[in-house]
Amino acid sequence: MKKELVIVLDFGGQYNQLIARRVRECNVYCEVHPHTLSLDRIREMDPKGIIFTGGPNSVYKDDSPRCGKEIFDLGIPILGICYGSQLMAYMLDGTVENAPVSEYGKTEVEVDHGSLLFGDVETKTICWMSHTDYIASAPEGFTVTATTPVCPVASMEDPKRKLYATQFHPEVMHTAEGMKMLYNFVYKVCGCRGDWQMSSFVDDTITSVRQKVGDGKVLCALSGGVDSSVAAVLLSKAIGKQLTCVFVDHGLLRKDEGDEVEAVFGPDGPYDLNFIRVNAQDRFYRRLAGIAEPEQKRKIIGEEFIRVFEEEAKKIGAVDFLVQGTIYPDVIESGLGKSAVIKSHHNVGGLPDCVDFKEIIEPLRLLFKDEVRKAGRELGIPENLVSRQPFPGPGLGIRIIGEVTAERVRIVQDADAIYREEIANAGIEGLGQYFAALTNMRSVGVMGDERTYDYAVALRAVNTTDFMTAECSEIPFEVLQKVMNRIINEVKGVNRVMYDLTSKPPGTIEFE
Ligand code: XMP
Repeated sequence: MKKELVIVLDFGGQYNQLIARRVRECNVYCEVHPHTLSLDRIREMDPKGIIFTGGPNSVYKDDSPRCGKEIFDLGIPILGICYGSQLMAYMLDGTVENAPVSEYGKTEVEVDHGSLLFGDVETKTICWMSHTDYIASAPEGFTVTATTPVCPVASMEDPKRKLYATQFHPEVMHTAEGMKMLYNFVYKVCGCRGDWQMSSFVDDTITSVRQKVGDGKVLCALSGGVDSSVAAVLLSKAIGKQLTCVFVDHGLLRKDEGDEVEAVFGPDGPYDLNFIRVNAQDRFYRRLAGIAEPEQKRKIIGEEFIRVFEEEAKKIGAVDFLVQGTIYPDVIESGLGKSAVIKSHHNVGGLPDCVDFKEIIEPLRLLFKDEVRKAGRELGIPENLVSRQPFPGPGLGIRIIGEVTAERVRIVQDADAIYREEIANAGIEGLGQYFAALTNMRSVGVMGDERTYDYAVALRAVNTTDFMTAECSEIPFEVLQKVMNRIINEVKGVNRVMYDLTSKPPGTIEFE
C-alpha cells in the first residue's frame, strides 16, 4: 500500500528540517525539498500535504524564492509558515508589507476555534514570531483566523481550497501548542492516518535489504557511534553472517569504548555477524606525533582511518556492498547544496573510493537522528549505545589541543569518564553534548606542600537542537565542583579545571 507523504518546500528557513521532524513525530512521513521542485514531480509524488517554510527574504522583491502559482490549484492542502504564509498571500493577490513594528519572540496570539488548525487550541496561545514583513490583507476567499496586536493576519485560511497559513512558527517548541496545530494540519486538513511507524520501517528495511543483497557479501565500517551501530544491527538481522563489520580502534575513543563496542558486536555479543577489531592505536599516535595544527590532525586521522580500513577490506577480498551510515540531514544538505566549511568533517561515510565493492547500501538515509535512535531501540540495541552523544570521527584527537600523545589521550579519557559519571550520578538529563577536553596550557599549582606544573582540563556542556548553534548548559555548581575535585585528585598530570562558557557561534562545540 502506498505510504502517506507530506513534503516541506524549503524557502531558505532555518527550521526546514525541524518542520519535517515534527510532522514525523505525528507519525506521518515527511521529506524536505528545494522550493524549485517541479509541479510534475510534486504530482508524481502525490503528497497528502505541502508545507512552505519560512525564509529570510521579502516576497515582494524580484529575486525572492517562489514556486509556480499552479501549486495552489493542485487540490493538495498547503500550510504556509512565516515567509511561506506571506508568499501564499502575495501570490494569491493579498498584500504583504514591511510591518510597522517587527515581532520577535514569544507572542500571545488570539485564535479562532472555528479553524480546523485551532479547534483544540487555547483562545489565547503563545506562539513564536520572527518577522519584519507581514500580511496586511488576506487574499480574496481567505478568512483571518488569528491576530496579534501587531499582526492583523497572524493566520489565514481558505478551507475550500485547503490553503492555510500562519505568520508564526508552529514547529518550534516556543509555540506552546504548535504540535497540536501541525497534528491538526496533517490529520484534519490533509486526512492522514499516520502510517509512519518505526516498527514497520525496521521490518520493511530488513525485507528490502534481504532482497537487494541476495547471497552477496556486505562490509560495514563500525565506529561504535549510534548511526553505524544501528546500521550494523539492522543489516545483521537481515543477512546475518553475510555481513562483516570492521571496527578500527584509533586510540582516540572515550575510555573503555573500544571494549564496549567489542562486547556488543564481537563474538560474545548477541549478534550473528563477522566482527573484526583492528587495534591501530600506536599507528595513529605515530602519525600524529609532533602535529599540533587542527586541520592537519583531522586530515591525518581521516587518511589513516581509510588506510587501515582499506587494508582490512583487502584481506576480506571483493565485497558486493558497502554500508554507509548516511542519515536524512546529510541527504537534505547535499540536495539543497549547502555545505559546512568551518571544519573538515570526517566520519565513516567517506570510504567508498578505496574499497572494491559494487554498490552502497544506506539503510538509514530516510531517518533523522532521533529516529535512528528509535530504530535502535526497536532493534533491541542496548540503551547506552542508542542514547550515546554524538562523537566526532576524529575522536579525542580534536579534544586534545595541540599534539596528541598516548599520555594526553589517557588524561582526557580519565577526566571525561569522571565528568560523565558525575553527570549521570547527579541525574542531569537532556544535555545536548558534554565532554572534557585537554587544553595545551600548563600552569602552576600546589598539591600537599608541593609545587605542581600541570595541565588544565576544560569541561564543556552545551544545549543544542541542531548542533549549528549551541548555548552553554547551566550545570549546577556543586556538580562542577565535585567533578573538579575528582579530576584533580584522580587524574595524574592535571592541576586545574575550567568550565567553558562559550556559545556557538562564536565558538564551535569541539575545540578544534
Ligand atoms: P562543531 O565543533 O563544528 O561540532 O561545533 C558540531 C557537531 O559536529 C560534531 N563533529 C563531528 N562529527 N566528524 C563527525 O562525525 C567530525 O569530524 C566532526 N567534527 C565535529 C561535534 O561533535 C558536534 O556534535
